[in-house]
Amino acid sequence: MTSPESDGPYAADIERVVVSAADIQEKIAELARKVEADYQADTDSPLLLVGVLKGAFVFMADFARELRHPAEVEFMAVSSYGSSTTSSGVVRILKDLDRDIAGRHVLVVEDIIDSGLTLSWLLRNLASRNPASVRVVALLRKPDAVKVPVEVAHVGFDIPNEFVVGYGLDYDERYRGLPFVGVLKPEVYGAA
Ligand code: XMP
Ligand code: MG
Repeated sequence: MTSPESDGPYAADIERVVVSAADIQEKIAELARKVEADYQADTDSPLLLVGVLKGAFVFMADFARELRHPAEVEFMAVSSYGSSTTSSGVVRILKDLDRDIAGRHVLVVEDIIDSGLTLSWLLRNLASRNPASVRVVALLRKPDAVKVPVEVAHVGFDIPNEFVVGYGLDYDERYRGLPFVGVLKPEVYGAA
């Protein structure tokens, strides 16, 4: 049998697996147990999971199914001004939440924290809506994230400062469906 890492339409584009599919799934179970512990005093009020589109959609789907705590799922889409590879911290809301979060416990479900600029903007924006609490769970974090300190309740993996794809993350909208996180071969960028 072939592993998810060596199979599939994009296998030939991958230089290296950074986090395997199995390691991601194991980590999500760990993260879910930690989040359940954080909110165990509030089991009668559903947690509001807020995913940031598009990258967080895969993590959200797996995390929401693993979490043994009542939860509602919401998504926001934001775009950060600046080049496609560096964010400026100036953020525009493309799709807002569908409901009021006043008095609610909000958990932002993030795919990756890079500079932290997008997330710090988002946390300020959400806090201004008077929720009971706002916390963050992020699957991946890069070393640059320390430059804009954002308080993150739980992080799955600290990864090297390289551009990664898979598990929701794209290059030119491709690779989001890969079950693992990996680095592309340099020639893939040249061909885009
Ligand atoms: P900041 O720098 O504001 O940006 O923390 C976080 C957002 O930038 C995107 N991002 C990536 N997307 N591979 C990707 O496909 C990466 O290695 C990567 N690093 C950052 C992502 O949208 C994230 O939410
Ligand atoms: Mg992207």
